[in-house]
Amino acid sequence: MRRIVLMVHRAPVSGAFSLNDLAGGGGRIDEVARAVSTGFLVSNRLRRDTEMVLLFSQSPPPAARAIRLFGERIRYLNPDERSTAALLKNALVRSIPLERDVEASPGLIVGPVDPLEELRRLAAVPGAFWLTESGNPEEPSELPSDTTVILGDADDPNQAERAVLEASGIAKLSLGPVPLRSSQCVDVWQNRLDRRQFSEGQLSAPL
Ligand SMILES: C[S@@+](CC[C@H](N)C(=O)[O-])C[C@H]1O[C@@H](n2cnc3c(N)ncnc32)[C@H](O)[C@@H]1O
Repeated sequence: MRRIVLMVHRAPVSGAFSLNDLAGGGGRIDEVARAVSTGFLVSNRLRRDTEMVLLFSQSPPPAARAIRLFGERIRYLNPDERSTAALLKNALVRSIPLERDVEASPGLIVGPVDPLEELRRLAAVPGAFWLTESGNPEEPSELPSDTTVILGDADDPNQAERAVLEASGIAKLSLGPVPLRSSQCVDVWQNRLDRRQFSEGQLSAPL
């Protein structure tokens, strides 16, 4: 299983943004939608082995929300970022009055979260990496079969998130010398895992 955790900073946790203004009023939800789309969709199929966790922290708990997307079950994910943003918006709106998790659409669970607590928990998962330009450019030769990477959306982690990550002792990994968009990081990471699995005989070449 490939888990990708995105720290979402400016997108309204209530889903109160217009699909015509994803970057501005949406607080760069366009980049979040792009990361989700690229995390799951390849040319002609969906990555069933991927799970994404989006930690929406623009408002503190109890308003903060997490969206978890499970490739095994997800439906209604299309390649365009507007429809993905709509899927996220609908989930956030539906979650406003609820104090528990709900499956807002197949494979998409939304609910209240303490983003820093959740970050602390996820950073402690064995073999997790914090993707950052200042990380180690060499990834270990061995990776666990379940991988976890944590990264920022259009913004780097804020001070509190950075403190949690630093305190966790999580390994820092760089994907290259150039600062990338988070959606590009997701692409590069998925490609690295594809290549690794291919060389280990777990993926076969297309016919
Ligand atoms: C759009 S970047 C944030 C701004 C970026 N640090 C800059 O200086 O322009 C979003 C996130 O992607 C990840 N990231 C970007 N470039 C990376 C790289 N070369 N290696 C590893 N992670 C990277 C980091 O987690 C970063 O917080």
